[in-house]
Amino acid sequence: MNRLCRELGIEYPIFAFSHCRDVVAAVSRAGGMGVLGILAMSPDEIDIELSWLEKNSGGRPYGVDVAIPGRTVDRESGLTDAGQMQSRLQEMIPQKHRDYAEELMRRYDVPSLPAKNGQEHGWATEGFTAAGGEEQLEVVLGREHGFLVSALGPPPAWVIERAHERGTKVGALVGKPHQAVRNVELGVDVIICQSYEAAAHTGEIGGMVLIPDVVDAVGDVPVLAAGGIGGGRQMAAAMGLGAQGVWTGSIWLTCRETGTDPEMVERLLKLNSTDTVRSTSQTGKPNRQVRTGWTEAWDDPAGPGSLPMPLQYMLYAEYTERARRAGVHDLVGGPVGQVVGRMTKVRPAGEIVLSMVEEYVATVQRMSAQLDALVES
Ligand SMILES: Cc1cc2nc3c(=O)[nH]c(=O)nc-3n(C[C@H](O)[C@H](O)[C@H](O)COP(=O)(O)O)c2cc1C
Repeated sequence: MNRLCRELGIEYPIFAFSHCRDVVAAVSRAGGMGVLGILAMSPDEIDIELSWLEKNSGGRPYGVDVAIPGRTVDRESGLTDAGQMQSRLQEMIPQKHRDYAEELMRRYDVPSLPAKNGQEHGWATEGFTAAGGEEQLEVVLGREHGFLVSALGPPPAWVIERAHERGTKVGALVGKPHQAVRNVELGVDVIICQSYEAAAHTGEIGGMVLIPDVVDAVGDVPVLAAGGIGGGRQMAAAMGLGAQGVWTGSIWLTCRETGTDPEMVERLLKLNSTDTVRSTSQTGKPNRQVRTGWTEAWDDPAGPGSLPMPLQYMLYAEYTERARRAGVHDLVGGPVGQVVGRMTKVRPAGEIVLSMVEEYVATVQRMSAQLDALVES
């Protein structure tokens, strides 16, 4: 058990990001820390999910992940009225982009289906905005939990302050060493360095280079390595580079407790690392996901290009949900990292945690024996 584990009250420095409360609870019960991603949840849903976690995590700590992007269309155009947000943002989507999406639907024979009132992917559009994000944060900050993590940008000072008042540690995802330094200056307690291999929003630097650079940049502040970690050998490599723990996401998409659509689980189990692409086509910011007809079309230089956040997400949500309901899987993907190639069978989350720990221990022992052999020869 290292210092970070002691401070957070966990047994193993394995962190599991998931949108699914069952995964979060299972990982925490197994001795790691499950972290619930609440981006697509309304404030009421967050309240329900956190109440459930309080009762079902076996008294073990869990965390909450919020997305606080620095730059979005609503922030830049001063939109603050949450009630009008969806309709005002819808008006900002250029007709050229709608026509392009419609043409794509025609190409793949996706019929027109009744709209679901802008709620195709839950509350995620609101979650990306400043007004919606604050409503989510109010609920999150009103609850006891062990770890509050901010994706996409440094958490505002008032968020860090209120979390610290409750004794909650604050973490932030970064893709570059200077972002890590900035977060530490603002009072963030744990840096999560997200490398190129990772699912979802990610920078351009691979883990082998990013992890030691971030560790060296932040001194004593604990660093978690994120991106491409699916087993104990990868965990040992990350710890060898100076990380205090690992932050994982993709591997939980195919665990037994996952909330992922069963058809998508079957597809993920067959994908290779090269079946993912870092593309702006889902949210407007570079985001690693399954390569699909949707990503190809929006990454095509002949197309109109992706819109800024959250407008691109609104198009994505509406049209890919239409494709999903019509059973046109070639257009339906979602975030997953390059580690997908190692996700080949469904296993219980607790078993994944324990096998990662076992493989980590065996790897460190093997490396120690390698060192002995080197010294002897
Ligand atoms: C389906 C999915 C959705 C994600 N959404 C978020 C998110 O909302 N907030 C966040 O901080 N990270 C999100 N991530 C990224 C994870 O937190 C984590 O950093 C990443 O998955 C680590 O890389 P790996 O996938 O190689 O394990 C998501 C990952 C996946 C697989």
